[in-house]
Amino acid sequence: MSDLWKNVRVDFPILHQQVNGKPLVYLDNGATSQKPRAVIDALVRYYERDNSNVHRGLHALSMRATDAYEGARARVARFINAADPAEIIFTRGTTDSINLVARSWGHAHLKPGDVVLTTEIEHHSNLVPWQQAARASGATLKCVPVLGADAEGGLDLAALDQLLTPQVKLFAFTHISNTLGTINPVAEFCRRARAVGAVTVIDAAQSVGHAPFDVQALGADFVAFSGHKMCGPTGIGVLYGRRALLDQLAPDETGGGMVVNVTYEAATWKPAPERFEAGTPNVADAIALGVACDYLDALSRDQIAAHDAALAQLAMEKLSLLPGIRIIGPRAGAARSGLVSFAFEGVHAHDVVTFADEDGVALRGGHHCNQPLMRKLGLTSTTRASFYVYNTPEEIDALVASLRKILEFFGVA
Ligand code: ALA
Repeated sequence: MSDLWKNVRVDFPILHQQVNGKPLVYLDNGATSQKPRAVIDALVRYYERDNSNVHRGLHALSMRATDAYEGARARVARFINAADPAEIIFTRGTTDSINLVARSWGHAHLKPGDVVLTTEIEHHSNLVPWQQAARASGATLKCVPVLGADAEGGLDLAALDQLLTPQVKLFAFTHISNTLGTINPVAEFCRRARAVGAVTVIDAAQSVGHAPFDVQALGADFVAFSGHKMCGPTGIGVLYGRRALLDQLAPDETGGGMVVNVTYEAATWKPAPERFEAGTPNVADAIALGVACDYLDALSRDQIAAHDAALAQLAMEKLSLLPGIRIIGPRAGAARSGLVSFAFEGVHAHDVVTFADEDGVALRGGHHCNQPLMRKLGLTSTTRASFYVYNTPEEIDALVASLRKILEFFGVA
């Protein structure tokens, strides 16, 4: 078992508090991660010293802010091994990034008869924008099915063979399921999509801060992720796009900062990334996201992935001893990211989360923005424990102890 947490807990001020009289056990990292002191300091430092608008001013503060903002772009490019910082567009988050592609790329490329392919295990943010793009263009949306009564079999690769026809113009899939913990073979998906000429979109919200991620090795066309799930601030995210694709793409939003020449009748656009960043960008949060990249790379994402996975396996082992528990996603021992979703017969997930909170344990309960998947599994909701660098094996014991109390209260144990 990795002891990564021993060195890192001290970096996260928020963890050192009591909730309802108990030490906080924060197991809701799939929803958002906590922030290390270095990221918080970067935000304060920016507002205390450098705050100014970027790309517009010639004064010292504006130049400092611009250098730091563009430095953050280059840092994020290195984080995912993008060939060129211009391939990094700062957005509000994963949802914003996917919507940008669905509207801009979808509008330009989709037509009746085309197929947009996604999967049955997508977060709503990688499903609903494609529904809308398909509806607007007359294209058809199809989903790769998931296998098993508990979705334990992962995506059906044989069905993928059938579905991935030359009619498929775009294949959008998650790297790691936020509900199941399934790790998709994304390199293979990109390779197979390329073979039929389809553009790929990877939802990397649950993966990029948890495991090594190399866009060039994957051959991905578009990748979306959020800062707040990887130790960075809320309100900042990234759309990576392959340069050749971005250069052909029309902007989704227009206004200041993204134009070359404007008359009363028309305007011309700057190249990427400015073309896609109309208005004043989220400078402070982008800079702090660059610091989050430094923080995670200093820990090593190989080490983070091993730590998260070890905690998930330990949790599976201990949770499976609880009466009446149904764990969804990959079986114990199979590859799984650092999260576990489960349901108890007769106890609603919202009750589980509310009672666990009494013990200082923060979980998420609900459909996890995966309503169609929940319906397919015959569930309305699950409880999810999701782990990150600062979580400890003792916190899994605290989770299990709290769940035992809840089951006793509801007369299940
Ligand atoms: N997408 C986030 C989650 O899975 C909010 O909790």
